[in-house]
Amino acid sequence: MKFIFSSIIAIGLMATAMSASTAQAVPTPRSLEAGMKLMQARLKTISKQATDTAKNGESARLADEFAQITEATKALIPSEVDRLPSSEREIRKDLYESMMDDSANLGLKLAEAFRLNDNTKAADLLKRLSKAKKDGHVEFK
Ligand code: HEM
Repeated sequence: MKFIFSSIIAIGLMATAMSASTAQAVPTPRSLEAGMKLMQARLKTISKQATDTAKNGESARLADEFAQITEATKALIPSEVDRLPSSEREIRKDLYESMMDDSANLGLKLAEAFRLNDNTKAADLLKRLSKAKKDGHVEFK
């Protein structure tokens, strides 16, 4: 009995360890360009399947990843901003960070909309993200 009990615990621990090691880690961007590419890849997949309710779970996970990557990319200040005189640099850096924060927050809302199976709201949030991207690029790219 004791053997069966400890075997069950051992199998349980092994299964937990295996699922932890197969869970895909969200990549950490090494450069601003790489971060933007990782963000773009997730939004592209989400946009393609945004009306497919069977994929809402996966879309929610990708939107969470988008938010996480956007938050990490926020720390990668564009080199043009870094080269500005210090007074101007702070203002532009704050603007860059707040625009990236807005995009990350839209990503979190998008994940929530998919989890609630609210695909109408998800479509609206995707439009807002597309505008956030355009605005960010007009300002900084
Ligand atoms: C919201 C979704 C966004 C997506 C999907 C996105 C996607 C992209 C992509 C695909 C690139 C080109 C990367 C390459 O060179 O191949 C790029 C570049 C860039 N983006 Fe975004 N972007 C987004 C939002 C923003 C925002 C909000 C800002 C600024 C606040 C921003 C600033 C920049 C800058 C500065 C570059 C040039 C990076 C470089 O070449 O070093 N982006 N973005």
